[in-house]
Amino acid sequence: MTRTLPNRWGHLYVKSRSTFGLRRGPTGRRTLGSVSVPFDFDEVFDEDYLFFYEPLLADVTETDVDTIWRLLRLEPDMAILDLGCGHGRIANRLAERGARVTGLDATAVFLDRARRDAASRGVDVDYVKGDMRRLPWTDERFDRVLSWFTSFGYFDDQDNRRVLQEAHRVLRPAGRLLIENNNLVELLPRWQPALVTERDGHFAIDRSCFDPTTGRATTERVIIRDGRTRRFVFSVQMFVAAELRNWLLDTGFTSVNLIDPNGDPLTVRSRRMISIAYR
Ligand SMILES: C[S@@+](CC[C@H](N)C(=O)[O-])C[C@H]1O[C@@H](n2cnc3c(N)ncnc32)[C@H](O)[C@@H]1O
Repeated sequence: MTRTLPNRWGHLYVKSRSTFGLRRGPTGRRTLGSVSVPFDFDEVFDEDYLFFYEPLLADVTETDVDTIWRLLRLEPDMAILDLGCGHGRIANRLAERGARVTGLDATAVFLDRARRDAASRGVDVDYVKGDMRRLPWTDERFDRVLSWFTSFGYFDDQDNRRVLQEAHRVLRPAGRLLIENNNLVELLPRWQPALVTERDGHFAIDRSCFDPTTGRATTERVIIRDGRTRRFVFSVQMFVAAELRNWLLDTGFTSVNLIDPNGDPLTVRSRRMISIAYR
């Protein structure tokens, strides 16, 4: 039996008893199977991603930028690095407010879109194709580093820690890193095993499971668009607040604030978890 419920993004949550492609693991339980880490990023971040996510993100972007500006205490002329900047929805708007913005992303098609949008807004953002695990800048280059919309946690522990080390390295003394992620303890009780996003009769279907022994959420995504079907698996490391704070302190940050998007202390009811680490 299948039931659909709209959420605030117009997603349909599918509640189904169907096993829907899940396999039996060695314990006899049904699992999504494993995904190698890192997974194939080119399958996940591409034109299909923009097609389904861009309109949804457009609705929240101005609010996101207000939140970032306030929580990072940004000022015009500050040097900001947007790590995993995607199609530039945040970076270009920070530049419109007077910040000196650099955007780094691994996906060329997103950077092309970001550059076109920057040109149409008349702002100058330095977009760089690269890998957040190996930043192409000398030490102490930026006042702020930003990782927004679950852009941290794609790799194994060693590489995830490397991302934090690189962010720390390129920050100036007294600089700040902001990481915005899901709040795991809030998300788990309302975990949806399946989620359907529809746009103009095209579908992205996600089936996700969370493995508490690894802390990873694994998703199988099926894209049905223009009469073709594409299927791939990806996963992301999810952190409880204390764990991420300890990682940040291990990296060398002197202190970490764990807050919600309003800037209030994180609670079990906060939808998103924001970590602000002080160099
Ligand atoms: C969930 S998206 C978020 C994009 C953007 N921060 C936003 O809020 O719209 C994650 C981004 O990380 C990028 N990414 C994935 N692996 C990367 C890597 N190794 N180095 C740099 N960027 C990467 C993807 O291309 C994608 O744009």
